[in-house]
Amino acid sequence: MILVTGATGTIGRHLVPLLIDSGAAVREMSRRQGFDFEDTESLTRALDGVDTVFLLSPPGDTVAKYDLALLEQAKNVHKVVKISAIHTGEPGFELTSAWHLPGEQALRSSDLMWTILRPTAFASNALAWLPQIEAGEPIPSFYGDGKNGVVNPRDIAAVAAQALLTDDHDKQTYTLTGPELLNTTQQVEILSDVLGKPLQTVDVSPDQARAGMLAQGMPSESVEFMLKGFEIVRNGGNAVVTDHVERVLGRSPATFRTWAQETLL
Ligand SMILES: NC(=O)c1ccc[n+]([C@@H]2O[C@H](COP(=O)([O-])OP(=O)(O)OC[C@H]3O[C@@H](n4cnc5c(N)ncnc54)[C@H](OP(=O)(O)O)[C@@H]3O)[C@@H](O)[C@H]2O)c1
Repeated sequence: MILVTGATGTIGRHLVPLLIDSGAAVREMSRRQGFDFEDTESLTRALDGVDTVFLLSPPGDTVAKYDLALLEQAKNVHKVVKISAIHTGEPGFELTSAWHLPGEQALRSSDLMWTILRPTAFASNALAWLPQIEAGEPIPSFYGDGKNGVVNPRDIAAVAAQALLTDDHDKQTYTLTGPELLNTTQQVEILSDVLGKPLQTVDVSPDQARAGMLAQGMPSESVEFMLKGFEIVRNGGNAVVTDHVERVLGRSPATFRTWAQETLL
C-alpha cells in the first residue's frame, strides 16, 4: 500500500493515476479524504497498513513540522519519497532549507529507504498569472533576467512513481529540472504564442515586492527570506538544468511550451 500525501495537489493528482495504472494499492491523503497533517490520530489512520509513502507537505512555514509529524508515525513503513526543493541546505536559501532540511535530515538519519526529490520552479506556478492574462494586464516579473529550469509537475510525478515502485532510486537525491532555462519574459512569450494572445511583463522591484507581501500579511522575516531568494534568482543563482529527470525516465523532460499546451488549451 502506497500512501500519497498531497493527493489532490499539483504533483499528487498526476501521481495517483500513474500508481493505480501500475497496479499498486494507493491510499490518497489530503483533508478532502479526512486526513490532516495537524491531526496525529488521522496520520496514524492514514499510515495503517502502509509500506511506502510519497511525502509532500503543502508549501509554507509548516513544511518541516508536517514532514516530521508524518515520519514520527511512520514506524512500520519501508520507504519514503519526499518532495523537497532545489538548493535545500545551500547558503542563501534559508527559507527553502528551513522548510525542507529537517525532513531530509530525518530521512537520511533513519533506518528507512528514501529518495529525495528536489524540484526547481514548477511550470504550474504560471497559473498564478491567469488573472492578469484574463484581465489583459501585464504579468509581474520578480526575477529580472534571472532564469529557471522550469519543470513540469507531470515529470516530477513520473520520477516519484519510479522511486516508489522500484528500488533503483533508493538513497538518491535528485534535482529535477526541465530541459531549458527561461526567464519570466521568455515564459510569457511562450504563453502568448500558445494562447494566441499578446501578453506583457512588468518588472517588480524588490521594494515593490516587499510592500506587496507585507500587505498580504506575510511575516516580515519570511518576506526578507523570499526577497533574498528573488535576488539570487535575479542574479542567475537558479539557472540550473540537470539530467536527473532523463536519467530516471529515459526520456527528456517536457518543455514549458508542452506544459502550456497540455494545461491551457
Ligand atoms: N511550486 C514550486 O515551484 C516548488 C518548487 C520546489 C519545491 N516545491 C515544494 O513542493 C511542495 C508542493 O507545493 P504545491 O504548491 O504544488 O502544493 P500542492 O501539492 O498543490 O498542495 C498541497 C496538497 O496538500 C494538501 N494539504 C494541504 N494542507 C493539508 C493538511 N493540513 N493536511 C493534509 N493535507 C493537506 C492539499 O489538499 P487539501 O487542500 O485537500 O488538504 C494538496 O493536496 C511544497 O513542499 C513546496 O515547497 C514547490
